[in-house]
Amino acid sequence: MRIPSSHQPMTTSSAPGKIILFGEHAVVYGRPALAVPVTQVQATATVSENSRGGIMIEAPNINLSAELSSLAPDHPLATIINSVFSILSISNPPPCTVYLQSTIPVASGLGSGAAVSVAIIRALSMFLGQTLSDERVNALAFKAEKLYHGTPSGIDNTVVTYGKPVYFIKRKPIKTFHVGTPFMIMIGGTGMPAPTKESVTAVRKLWESDKPHWEKIFTRVGEIVWNARQAIERGDTIELGRLMDANHSLLQQMTVSCAELDQLVEAARKSGALGAKLSGGGRGGNMIAIVEKENAPAVARALSSAGAKRTILTQVG
Ligand code: PMV
Repeated sequence: MRIPSSHQPMTTSSAPGKIILFGEHAVVYGRPALAVPVTQVQATATVSENSRGGIMIEAPNINLSAELSSLAPDHPLATIINSVFSILSISNPPPCTVYLQSTIPVASGLGSGAAVSVAIIRALSMFLGQTLSDERVNALAFKAEKLYHGTPSGIDNTVVTYGKPVYFIKRKPIKTFHVGTPFMIMIGGTGMPAPTKESVTAVRKLWESDKPHWEKIFTRVGEIVWNARQAIERGDTIELGRLMDANHSLLQQMTVSCAELDQLVEAARKSGALGAKLSGGGRGGNMIAIVEKENAPAVARALSSAGAKRTILTQVG
């Protein structure tokens, strides 16, 4: 263990949000999923020297202002910070303040936890005079995801670390994919926080009660994901819309949709979206719709009238 020989006075790093286009939940059981970064929302970590001593964490978004040593060791932020010290073999870190800001709504399927972790890992390691490879950043962020989510697949930390569209299979090397023609996704937020851990646990209970049945459902999701990847590669938005609808209906069977999400999905479809589904853990959080540029404002209006608390239009590719 050592004291860092030199550190920077101040460093900063940002990481994007993310959305899952296809394959959530089934991805936990080894099927593929497609996810893309959402750069309109970001988490930013700034690490600076402080003269008062200790390691301070300031996260106004979650009303946290605390010294690292006062947090429970399994607190996700404490875990992340301590794991950076540990991987860099630093036993006596210089006094510093880790300041966190995020425009990513928490517990809403936009990857806020992963983005905060990635931003802290990068800003803190740079502050300590070292740069970690993306692979190491991803591995550390995955550790924190386990605290947030229980048994995460690792998709959130992967998309957020690499900042690229990914075709993700648990424990397999990261694969990115080609976007034939850029397309637009409208994200609609229910405004209901939805802890992923709870919906993942609910699906696990279903799976444990009838593994052959749920394995079949997960395999169907996997086929949708594979077809969606091909549709994205050839720029076929009509087919993508159809596949989104099919994926949503399988997610409904997994009991991870809810009245509010279904209402937004329906409103998007009725106002001209090519297809729509929930995105992420479900039971709140966000839905997504594939839209054409011309009808994006109409879909956004329809979503707001149907109860969306916010809409974000993002381009993939
Ligand atoms: O709720 P989100 O966007 O963090 O996504 C969770 C995705 C799940 O497949 C439900 C869980 C996972 O770890 O992959």
